[in-house]
Amino acid sequence: MQWYKVPDLNFTGQPFIRKEKIAGKQICLVGYEGEVFAMGSRCPHAGEDLSGGWCKDGKLVCPVHRYSYQLTTGRGSPGQNDYVETYPVKLKRNEVYVGIGSFWEKLKAMFTFEE
Ligand code: FES
Repeated sequence: MQWYKVPDLNFTGQPFIRKEKIAGKQICLVGYEGEVFAMGSRCPHAGEDLSGGWCKDGKLVCPVHRYSYQLTTGRGSPGQNDYVETYPVKLKRNEVYVGIGSFWEKLKAMFTFEE
């Protein structure tokens, strides 16, 4: 996995939502309740931009049809049967780094179990 520093973002704990292109992917960065989350910015319902949405109860709400996705897992709310890909985030001082893994790293992680 490779870590990418998000340019021009110093996280101070204040809430924010913004879209950034990182490693060729459009990623929605969300500052929520003192943490930063990263997920794909394209809504799986009809392709709208999730970075125009808002947060509620630990979920990012799409501004168009109001489907919502858990910030921690990307899982859609019950009944939606969809999800948004999420990415790990690290904070170093106030700088934000997003981890982007290769397809093979993701596949390996799916079949690796911790005891
Ligand atoms: S496009 Fe996001 S909920 Fe429909």
